[in-house]
Amino acid sequence: MFEKKTVRDVDVKDQVVLVRTDYNVPLAVTDEGKMAVASDFRIREGLPTIKYLLENGAKKLILMSHMGRPEGKDEKLSLRVVAETLAGLLPGSTVNFVDEVTGLEVKAAVEELPERGILLLENLRFDKREKEGSEELAKEIVEATGATLFVQDGFAVTHRAHASTVAVAKLLPAAAGLLLEKEVTMLRGALAEPERPLVAVIGGAKVADKQPLIDRFLPVADRIIIGGKIAADGYESDHAQIYVAEDFDTDGEGARLDIGPIATAKMAGMVSGAKTVIWNGLLGKAEDPAYATSSTILAKILGERDDETSIILGGDTSGFVEGLYMEDPSLTYSLISTGGGAALELLAGGEMPGVEVLEGK
Ligand code: 3PG
Repeated sequence: MFEKKTVRDVDVKDQVVLVRTDYNVPLAVTDEGKMAVASDFRIREGLPTIKYLLENGAKKLILMSHMGRPEGKDEKLSLRVVAETLAGLLPGSTVNFVDEVTGLEVKAAVEELPERGILLLENLRFDKREKEGSEELAKEIVEATGATLFVQDGFAVTHRAHASTVAVAKLLPAAAGLLLEKEVTMLRGALAEPERPLVAVIGGAKVADKQPLIDRFLPVADRIIIGGKIAADGYESDHAQIYVAEDFDTDGEGARLDIGPIATAKMAGMVSGAKTVIWNGLLGKAEDPAYATSSTILAKILGERDDETSIILGGDTSGFVEGLYMEDPSLTYSLISTGGGAALELLAGGEMPGVEVLEGK
């Protein structure tokens, strides 16, 4: 299911490893007016690769990521806060930060880093050449860091052909990290060899975004349940295995803001009988607790069962489920994907240039 070399297939001992992570995490302003990481989920999910590399003798780790979509340098989107969070998650490790991506400052920071130390570079997208996929930027990064091995672990950004996902991978031996391997294997496996019945639950706002996913599920899913705004806006289908929510909770003005009790009960019945459930897109306007009922019921059914494969996809849906999990850590899921667009692209059969470029086994 995963045909690329991973960190387990290459010799990491004594290597200076350049790791592409996806630390594009939500930020919030603290009471003191400082930026802080609002959810460290993506950072925690990347820890197994970092620990594997250190435990297997890597000399130094240089981590790189983007954050947000800045146009040039923007202090509010600095990765410094991520380095602070990472240091808290890796007690006993040196975690340094350098506010550049290339050049002499980076070179000096790598030299100063003790063996087994970790250095996080500044937001890659402060340099506009990152999104252009620039070979020149990739060369500058490799030169400044002195990296001898590239590891791609930022699953959530592997649908982008950027300097740090594709161009860098062409300059160094390039392997996948453990998070990338886990996500691609589980997502591909869920469609290729699912335990049946396979039920896909699709919510969210825009039909244009969801139709490729629905089309991908049609030949494989036993049931597809449609909720969220797309159902509220009147999504129609002739396919026998598609169930579109039939009733809605509304506000005082009649706006349909959650699927209603009949649809929620039918959805719960279908999901409870499934062996594999893939869920993407909230079923109602769940940021408002008054309209989070159906999404909460679904998240709890999936989290309380341990005899099925449950895969949660997409930024909003993963964020919602993570929030419930924080309140009740007894809930378990097979995979809460760190990838929003990347996971949807992979499932819809789209291109994953950041995976394709890695060396085959
Ligand atoms: C994401 O959050 O989906 C990834 O970090 C990719 O971000 P992007 O859509 O800005 O490229």
